[in-house]
Order: sequence, then C-alpha cells, then structure tokens
Amino acid sequence: MSDATFGFAVVGLGMGQTHCKDINDARGARLVAVCDLVPERVQRMVDRYGCRGTAEFAEILASPDIDVVSIATPSGVHSDMTVAALRAGKHVLCEKPPDVSVAKVDAMIAAQRETGKKLEIVFQSRFEPFYRRVRQTIADGRLGKLIGAHASVHWYRTQEYFASPGMWKGTWALDGGGSLSNQGIHTVDLLQWMLGPVVEVYGKFGVYAHDIESEDKTAAVLAFANGAIGTLTTTTGAYPGSDNHQFIHGEKGTIEYQGGLKVWRIRADSREAEAEEERQMLALYGPKEKRDVTISSDPFAMSSRGHMAQVEDLVRAIREDGEPTVTAEGTRHTVEIMNAIYESGRTGKPVRLGG
Ligand SMILES: NC(=O)c1ccc[n+]([C@@H]2O[C@H](COP(=O)([O-])OP(=O)(O)OC[C@H]3O[C@@H](n4cnc5c(N)ncnc54)[C@H](O)[C@@H]3O)[C@@H](O)[C@H]2O)c1
Repeated sequence: MSDATFGFAVVGLGMGQTHCKDINDARGARLVAVCDLVPERVQRMVDRYGCRGTAEFAEILASPDIDVVSIATPSGVHSDMTVAALRAGKHVLCEKPPDVSVAKVDAMIAAQRETGKKLEIVFQSRFEPFYRRVRQTIADGRLGKLIGAHASVHWYRTQEYFASPGMWKGTWALDGGGSLSNQGIHTVDLLQWMLGPVVEVYGKFGVYAHDIESEDKTAAVLAFANGAIGTLTTTTGAYPGSDNHQFIHGEKGTIEYQGGLKVWRIRADSREAEAEEERQMLALYGPKEKRDVTISSDPFAMSSRGHMAQVEDLVRAIREDGEPTVTAEGTRHTVEIMNAIYESGRTGKPVRLGG
C-alpha cells in the first residue's frame, strides 16, 4: 500500500472545525483549505492551521491540490455538494445524515458510481469498539433469536442552538426534521447496522420545547426483518439531558448500555463463564471510572477514534482503491427509516419499508 498523503478541504465550519483538527492529526491527510460563508469561521481555521480560506465552494472544486472534500454544511445541501465534488474529480467525506431524503442519497450513490471516486459518510459510532463488538456478537448468533432493541436519545438543546448560520436547524428542508434527523440519526444507523433492516415503522412527533418548524420529540416502533421489535425515542427538549440508552435482548441474553456498559449477560456453558464474560466486558466498556484495562488490550480497539478514524479510513480506501467502511449505500436505509417515522407521524398509519 502506498503512503501517499492527500490534500483535504473542509466545507462548513461548525462541526467542520473538528474535521480540521482530525485531518490535521490523521495519518495520510493534510488540511489544504477551508470554506464557509461566515468569514470569522474561515479566519479562525486559517489562523490555527495555516491553510487557505475561501467563501467560494467553486474555488475548492477547481483547486488541483485538493484531493478530498470534507462536507459539513447543513444536511439538506450534502447531496448537491457531494455530487458536484465527485464530478469535479474529488473524493468526499460527507457528514451524517448523507442527506435528508432517500432520493438525494440515491443521487449521491449514482454520482459515486459514475465517477469511481470514493465517498464515505461520517457515522463515527460505527467505529466505536463497543458497537463493533455488539454487532459481531449478534452476527455470531450469540444472542440467539433477537427479540427486542430499545433505544433513547434524550438530549437538551437551548433555543439558541437552533440559531446557527442560515437558521437551518429544526427545518424540514435543511435539517430533514429535528431531534430524530439530527441527534437521533446515529442511533437509527447503529440499530439498522447492528440488527439488520427494518420492514415497518409507526411513529409520532411534535414540537414541545422550542420555537422551530419540525420537531423536538419523536417516538417510534420498529419492526425488524428478523422479527425483533424495536422502540426509539428522541428529543432535544429533555432538560438537562441524559446519556443515550440502548437495550438489546435475544433469547440467549441481554446487552444494556447507558454512559457505559451496564449489562452483558449472555448464556454460556456455566454461570461462572457467563459472569466472567460480563466482568471482562464491564472492564472494557463499563462506566469509565470502573474500567480496569487499557484500550490496547481490547481486540476491537482502533488505532484512532471517531472522526479521525473515518479520515484515515477514507485515506486507506483511496490508497488501496478499496471500499470505505461507511458507504452511502450502507446508510441509505438509515435515511429511509428516519423518513418513514416522519411519514407515519404525519399520516397516523404504519409505513412499510423496502418497496
Ligand atoms: N457526526 C457528528 O457527530 C455531527 C455532529 C454535529 C453536526 N454534524 C453534521 O454536520 C453538519 C453541520 O452541522 P453543524 O452543527 O456544524 O452546523 P453549523 O450551522 O454550525 O455549521 C454549518 C456551516 O456551514 C456553512 N455553510 C452553509 N452553506 C454553505 C456553503 N454553501 N458554502 C460554504 N459553507 C456553507 C455555514 O455558514 C455554517 O458555518 C450537519 O449535517 C450535521 O448533521 C455531525
């Protein structure tokens, strides 16, 4: 594998500021330019990293020293920008959600196939060692037949949070919704990635605690193709906010996580073996203060975390001419589930998925 390094540009400098840092720190990547409509946001990154700055996306697309465009603009413009960048010969790292509708995700997939450039979507939780292990445990059949997956994303956001540049947060067109499409989408993605496809949803949503167009509260029932029943609730109106919660159970055991692993009980040959496995898992993934091993002893640990792992993953895919770990195709169903929950909430009827 070559050790070439690639020039990155970051477009959209809210969350994109984290991308700048991670690109700067990642192996195989260097930050060449940043782009935002807000001059102060551009200047701050130019000063910090010594890169170029512009308000013109077209300038990024026309720059030959930029190999990869990292897109962190409002969600409803991700597809248009991604398609333009791919067609300009750039690889793309695009923030979650890939866009707000399945049709727009399909346009990204089509442009990726047409150009042959690499496209990776940022869903950094898929790089978390814990979730990778849960997914593998389910795939290995250790939980037996799956029965239920129950998750909550109960956060608090102030009204000021929604006053980001362009006032796009909490709008249908650019945020695709609110607490589900923006905050809860990571959990939707994890559920479908770990448990497989969802075939039917029933949902409700509303605006309760903010002056916004879309929603700050959703509740959904999910029917998985494997027969399990799921529930998901999301909100940005639960002062002061709590840690995300997941409870997954099958005929052979239960995994529960909130701010750290709480329960890992999977039937084994003996009660002692079962308890020993849970002890080991709590040592790795339990509440931080209770962990007693270094990350290096975790076989599921990655060399770097979160966004930086995704930057390095895309670099790997470009060098090897291989697949990024999180493709647009692999996140299409996440956007489909999200929109089905909203559609059900509007019509009052369950929505079947997958055509
Ligand atoms: N992966 C994560 O955990 C995570 C966390 C936060 C946000 N995000 C995603 O990142 C994206 C941005 O969210 P945010 O919270 O940073 O929002 P933000 O409003 O703080 O930042 C978006 C920036 O994009 C800029 N922008 C808008 N249109 C532009 C254009 N045409 N050209 C150049 N710049 C433009 C705006 O001026 C703004 O500075 C969203 O899609 C969001 O879902 C992901």
